[in-house]
Amino acid sequence: MKLKKIVSVLLAAACVFSLAACGSKESSEDSSEKETLVMATNAEFPPYEYHEGDDIVGIDAEIAAAIAEKLGMELKIEDMAFDSIIPAVTAGKADIGVAGMTVTEDRLESVNFSDTYATATQVVIVKEDSDITGPDDLAGKTVGVQLGTTGDIYASDIEDATVEQYNKGFEAVQALTQGKIDAVIIDGEPAKEFVKEAEGLKILDEAFTEEEYAIAIAKDNTDLEEKINDALGELKDSGKLDEIIAKYIKADAE
Ligand code: ARG
Repeated sequence: MKLKKIVSVLLAAACVFSLAACGSKESSEDSSEKETLVMATNAEFPPYEYHEGDDIVGIDAEIAAAIAEKLGMELKIEDMAFDSIIPAVTAGKADIGVAGMTVTEDRLESVNFSDTYATATQVVIVKEDSDITGPDDLAGKTVGVQLGTTGDIYASDIEDATVEQYNKGFEAVQALTQGKIDAVIIDGEPAKEFVKEAEGLKILDEAFTEEEYAIAIAKDNTDLEEKINDALGELKDSGKLDEIIAKYIKADAE
């Protein structure tokens, strides 16, 4: 009886020891075996995604990282042109597209969208001394946009306007500073960031539209869509989502 007890204590100790040893070995093996969640984005869109040194940071990067963590997956971010994101998702080269991407009817024909995680507006940026005072004044003007964005789509509907498409939103803003174009239509938060960095520009009070951002997922990947919505729901409920957004968008900025 006594011997049995000693043996079992020893066995337990051995187990604890070997488990600990195995555990740490396993976890390092685990991380290399973790399934990757590939996120396609266009990191030219602060505060949602932008480069900081070698890293891609921002609201979307952090939301995706939090989702990946909940799914026990390893997040990998692929930076590409904005209009390549949906093709990457439909081709299965990326699992998700997270890029401050607005849910539109058109896009819903190629991909599914998760529940929305942010609301946004399209705004007009002009020079401080511009005679353009609202979206209605854009008729006949030269308007800069980021290629393939909703701003691009709205601009193409403006009467007699010439639309200049740029690969990056900031390039459109630079062209405006240089007097090459009359206005830029772009999402509200990036607009604030770009105007902060430029000289002599302002954002018009009257916004163009209200939009909603969501995560693009391949139509046949309903399993992932469900998991992402669950994870997003948890991030909303726990306050983590608001926390991430508040980190990048100061409520009383300006
Ligand atoms: N919300 C706009 C759209 O969906 C612009 C998004 C641009 N995003 C980016 N990461 N460059 O078209």
